[in-house]
This record gives sequence, structure tokens and C-alpha cells, in this order.
Amino acid sequence: MNLPMAGGAGAPLLLENIPELQDEVRSLARERDAVILAHNYQLPEIQDVADYVGDSLGLTRQAASAQSGTIVFCGVHFMAETASILCPDKRVLIPDPDAGCSLADSITAQQLRDWKAHHPGAVVVMYVNTTAEVKAETDYCCTSANAVQVVEHIYAEHGADTEILFGPDMFLGAYVEKITGRRMHVWDGECHVHAGIKPADIAAVRGAHPNAEFLIHPECGCSTSVMEYVAAGDLDPSGVHMLSTGGMLAYASEHSGGSAVVATETGMLYGLRKASPDAQFIAANEAAHCRFMKMITLPKLRNSLRDAVHEVKVPTEIADRARVPIERMVAITP
Ligand code: 13P
Ligand code: SF4
Repeated sequence: MNLPMAGGAGAPLLLENIPELQDEVRSLARERDAVILAHNYQLPEIQDVADYVGDSLGLTRQAASAQSGTIVFCGVHFMAETASILCPDKRVLIPDPDAGCSLADSITAQQLRDWKAHHPGAVVVMYVNTTAEVKAETDYCCTSANAVQVVEHIYAEHGADTEILFGPDMFLGAYVEKITGRRMHVWDGECHVHAGIKPADIAAVRGAHPNAEFLIHPECGCSTSVMEYVAAGDLDPSGVHMLSTGGMLAYASEHSGGSAVVATETGMLYGLRKASPDAQFIAANEAAHCRFMKMITLPKLRNSLRDAVHEVKVPTEIADRARVPIERMVAITP
């Protein structure tokens, strides 16, 4: 008789089943020569079982240097695609192939080709939160950790008057424009999770925690207004830190005690509290929850390793073109 397995993919995961499943995942990873990479927004039990947890840039670097035959990507689909582009000879698996991204969905390859046709000669910079087809039409990729450096590199290499098409995140684009002091053409895409963190949320939570530092992800809907307040002198810039998720973790490791309001997806709080247990981290908006990131569960991760599903493979013709902007980015910020 077949009994239901602990933590079947569709069944609710009970707390007491987590250690057993984590042991199973670790031993399957050893048996299958697999490395487990996880984004900072993943569920705590996934972060705890991963070989590496990080931001988009860190995960890209880890994928590029992976030694194992298989990479299991606990993140969203474009991240697994990036790993497949960088490691075409490796097997790249994602525990749930439906883990998408609203930001990556905000621009298609055809839309980008049409945009480029209106701006011949412009340099295209796309956030890594894009599909492989969009990357294949791109000159440089960037992440929230290096967007300013990538754009400054382009002005230094191609001239200060270079026309840049930047996308798909409009808040990250506005942030880069503010820091570089130059206008670009910015696509009007957004991540629904970060765009939902509004200036009013910030005002309320910072009002309740006046002495807390403020860690803000540049994709947030409040990031543009925060920069305006700083520029106008209405906000003390010393307490405001515009950071990628990896930058937030580095901040937490360097600061023990104190408190910080955190404007990004709430999965980030787990890693921050682990990195700095004596500090208090407060969500800017408790509802900032990415349902795509949370589609990756421990039972699905176990099944992915056990059954070698779901493979993400970018066709060679697309991968060869999409690799160029990713490798340019990594070369600028090694
Ligand atoms: P980073 O981890 O690169 O800061 O990006 C955040 C994000 O929303 C990824 O989808
Ligand atoms: Fe995409 Fe936003 Fe989710 Fe990140 S938080 S994966 S940008 S939808």
C-alpha cells in the first residue's frame, strides 16, 4: 500500500515535516551532483537548505562559476533562464515552472524591437528581470546592485551624449537618472510588489519609528519620491540607504542593534534578522509579498531534485545572443 509522502507537492507543509524534507533535499542534492541557488525572497525553509542565497547579481555570478552538473534554481523563471544561458552544458531545474515575474512580463522582445526601431543607434540597458528573448535584443544587462555603474560605464565608453533605452523598471530607471544626472528613455514597466510600496506607507511606518534607518529597494514605488525628498532637503539622506537585496544583507551584517524600516518584498526580513539578530527590521508594507517567489516550496524542491524536473533550457540561438549583455555586465562589476 502506498502511503502519502511527507510534504507531497500539493499538500500543506507541516512544521514538523520540514527537517525531514530538508535532509532529503540535501542528500538528493549530493546524489544528483546539484547545487541549490536561492533568491533572498525565498521562503525561510528554502533559504536554509540552499547552498547559496543572494541577490540577482550574486546568483548570476554563482551560476556562472557552478562546478556541479545540475543547478536547481529557487527563484523565478528569468533567473533560471539566466543560469541556463551562462551554463548551456548544465542541467538547470526550477521547482515550479510557473514562477514568473510581473516585471519581466512588462516588456516583450517585439516591443523592445519596436522601441529600438524608433531610436536607431541607442544603447539598450535591460534589468536582468527580463526574458531570454528580451536579453537577446539587449546591449547591457544590469541588476539593482549595479545599474548605476553599468550606465556610467556606457557614458564613459560611448560618450556622455549616448542615447540609452533603459527598462523595464521605471523606478529603477528614475533612480539611475537621478544619480547620473542624465536623462534616458525609460520603459514604463514595474514590479507589482515593489510598486505597491507607496510614499504613504513610508510616511506612516517611519512616523511610527522615527529613529529607524531606512533601507529601500530602488524598484519601490516610493523610491522616486524618497529621492525627491532627499534632493529637496526634506529628508536626512544619512539614514536613507538605497540598496539591492544583497546590499541590504551586507548592511545587516555590518550593523548590530538599532532598527531599520525595510522597503522591499517581505521575504527579505528573514535573511536580515538572521544576519543581525539584535537589530529590529520593520516591513515598510507587510503586504509586499511576491506570490511567484513563494511558489517554490520544499516538497516541490525535493520533487525537482528527485525527478529532474522542470528543466529550463534556452534555445542556443537565443542563448548565444542573450549571453553577451550578461557577460558585459559581469565584466563591468566582477
Ligand atoms: P535584487 O535581488 O537583485 O535586488 O532584485 C530584487 C528582485 O525583485 C528580484 O526579482
Ligand atoms: Fe518579479 Fe517583483 Fe516578484 Fe521580484 S518581487 S520576482 S521583480 S514580481
